[in-house]
Amino acid sequence: MTGQLHDHGVISRFCQYLPVTDATPVISLNEGSTPLIHSSRLSERAEAEVFVKYEGLNPTGSFKDRGMTVALSKALEQGAGTVICASTGNTSAAAAAYAARAGILCAVLLPAGKIASGKLVQAYLYGAKVIAVRGNFDDAMRLVRELGGLDGIAIVNSINPDRIEGQKTAAFEIIEELGDAPDLHILPVGNAGNITAYWKGYREFHELGRSTVLPRMMGFQAAGSAPIFHNRIIESPNTVATAIRIGNPASWEGANSAVAESRGAVGIVTDEDILAAQVWLAKSEGIFIEPASAASVAGLFQLGKTGARRIVLTVTGHGLKDPDAAMTTGDYRPLEAAADLTAIRRVLENA
Ligand code: F0G
Repeated sequence: MTGQLHDHGVISRFCQYLPVTDATPVISLNEGSTPLIHSSRLSERAEAEVFVKYEGLNPTGSFKDRGMTVALSKALEQGAGTVICASTGNTSAAAAAYAARAGILCAVLLPAGKIASGKLVQAYLYGAKVIAVRGNFDDAMRLVRELGGLDGIAIVNSINPDRIEGQKTAAFEIIEELGDAPDLHILPVGNAGNITAYWKGYREFHELGRSTVLPRMMGFQAAGSAPIFHNRIIESPNTVATAIRIGNPASWEGANSAVAESRGAVGIVTDEDILAAQVWLAKSEGIFIEPASAASVAGLFQLGKTGARRIVLTVTGHGLKDPDAAMTTGDYRPLEAAADLTAIRRVLENA
């Protein structure tokens, strides 16, 4: 009871639209209800009302928490003793945190050497078994599919439909906050679970009469990791946005349907565009996001004027996840000064 009183996560907020019953033990960290921030500067550039859905403010710093609360609750209900996932970092952080909360084991398979430091330290601290696979995300994902068949092991990648169910709640929140869906929704695409989930959420509320608009879904991939854009598997994907360094997305079909049904598209942005957009959003709006999330912003810049009246950009992960990539975007060194007022004044005047 006490737990329920204090639980404001996505299951408690949207239980009627999720695959849960009274028998489901709710594993939550009060995820969701993230800020939808109006950006006057983006609005000016796009000649539309532009809002930023800041998913970095979830409990583990990315949108993955929405899906993980449902996936871990269902895994526990079904008696799993271990959860497992392949990850470029954020899924593993979320899986590890929610498994800790559920009191079950978590194993994560990560592409060796390609995980941002903030995400890796999370997996360790939340107590996951961390396995660095000598290969890329797609290799790790293949292994997880094989391991998931074993008794008592639940896969918590987005091939688990409970993950998609949880993640669709972001679309519900946007509709509730704006009073309707936007005309255009932009988000980064990696394994393609999130674009699939948003489109499901938008469709469901539309069918229920909760919204009148169905947005065009625009996904952006990094130019070096763009299998959906090129319509072929990329054997050696590469990008500074390690979160979306994926050559064979698991939810490829879901992304294709979302784009086809919504009359949207998948585009590409270069690493240069991604890093420039990351810095731009931090300096112009005070919103610090990780490189993968900046694909949304770079995508909006590339689209220019779209004719849409209202646009939502999902920025998927917090900037503090990947401080090393952020530090490459400039020559960041402090202005040194002696510990006296005159010296500080001199530095300020010259700055
Ligand atoms: N942005 C961030 C910060 C991500 O971590 C991911 C995916 C995406 C965007 C793309 O979302 O895969 O649903 O298309 N990260 C996964 C992971 C692959 O393992 O953390 P998607």
